[in-house]
Amino acid sequence: MELTVIGVGEVGAALLRQLDRMQGHLPDLIGESLVVRHGVVRHPDRERDCPAPTHGYTTNAEAAALDPAVDLVVEVAGGRGWAPLLERVVGRGVPVVTANKELVAWDGPQLRRAARAAGTDVWMEASVGGAIPVLRTLELSWPGYAFGYVAGVLNGTVNFVLDQMAAGQSLAHAVAAAQAAGLAEADPEADVSGRDTQRKLAVLMQLAFGVAVRPDDIPTRGIGAVHPDQVQAWARRGYRVKLLAQAWRGADGVAAVVGPAVVPAAHPLGQLSGAENAVLLSGPDTGEALLMGMGAGGGPTASAVLADIVAAARVRRGRSGLSWCRPIQDNVPWVDRPLGVVWAAESPPRRGRVSPRAMDGWRRITPQAAEPLWWWDGGALSG
Ligand SMILES: NC(=O)c1ccc[n+]([C@@H]2O[C@H](COP(=O)([O-])OP(=O)(O)OC[C@H]3O[C@@H](n4cnc5c(N)ncnc54)[C@H](OP(=O)(O)O)[C@@H]3O)[C@@H](O)[C@H]2O)c1
Repeated sequence: MELTVIGVGEVGAALLRQLDRMQGHLPDLIGESLVVRHGVVRHPDRERDCPAPTHGYTTNAEAAALDPAVDLVVEVAGGRGWAPLLERVVGRGVPVVTANKELVAWDGPQLRRAARAAGTDVWMEASVGGAIPVLRTLELSWPGYAFGYVAGVLNGTVNFVLDQMAAGQSLAHAVAAAQAAGLAEADPEADVSGRDTQRKLAVLMQLAFGVAVRPDDIPTRGIGAVHPDQVQAWARRGYRVKLLAQAWRGADGVAAVVGPAVVPAAHPLGQLSGAENAVLLSGPDTGEALLMGMGAGGGPTASAVLADIVAAARVRRGRSGLSWCRPIQDNVPWVDRPLGVVWAAESPPRRGRVSPRAMDGWRRITPQAAEPLWWWDGGALSG
């Protein structure tokens, strides 16, 4: 199967490396190999830390995406401008995989309609929550739009910045530290303003509620006006400030909002840091579920792109889109390695000596539906 990959930056290069590493498994997974034929970039002569496409790099996106020899197009370049070209690609019956939340939030419904009309699919797992399989869970495991409520912490840069502010840093210093750590973009405006989270919430609403909303219509407040004193005051009381995305669906419509909120430090959403993201789903039939994991970074995002490519390839071969197809290896040796247990206590009791007292300090790591999430209205702290 031949691929065109539009964008070979942070995510695209990680994808090419991961594809190279898993070539040996592909015949089992999809019955054929995956070959990257064209890489579309702005600077074709730039050196890249990944295996090169068989036909090299080009700036001619149209020729590469519409090459009749190409069976699937991956778009990991970013920006809404790719929508018309991708619509032409799916119009020819060729599936598209994208990590581009801006494009999916704005143009996803139209692109998916065009794909369906031509008998193909648009795959977009990586557009929300990086390596967390949240869209696939919504699509495959919890279908029927049975959700009443979706909440998420969806921006790793903001997590990092708020952690720095809890340690007393100003917003500007915290953003500079995020950039130095390679987390924030050169222009972190979309993160700080909440616009990145707003787009991701619009995508979640498409999948959870089956509705298309204009991302701009979601009332959004970023963290630009949050003061470190406030973050620290909440921390002293046992709370952490998070940029929270929330959406509801009721009998008469939907509601959504993005903004700073405080959550109990013991709440799973309160324990996220750095690139960790989480999505909480709740519905009358399903109860609550929480999905957590790495929400950003080239590797985690590329892993979700790769999962979509494999699923699309399986569909093309007439197999199920579900990946119940992992090769099972016999006779795997056991190794002596302690398995991670999530201890919330300061010092976990030693193995074999778990006294009742040692259980003090355990915190629930499941969502506590009865415990309210606190919403910051932008006002000053009282007391
Ligand atoms: N990085 C993450 O953690 C992450 C997480 C989730 C989703 N995403 C999404 O994944 C996508 C890619 O992100 P990234 O971090 O990999 O971006 P990036 O590092 O900036 O890479 C962008 C790539 O696209 C190419 N490109 C951009 N505009 C182009 C144009 N007009 N024509 C041809 N090539 C063009 C660039 O070419 P040159 O290399 O020649 O400049 C580069 O290879 C975005 O939609 C982003 O929102 C990223």
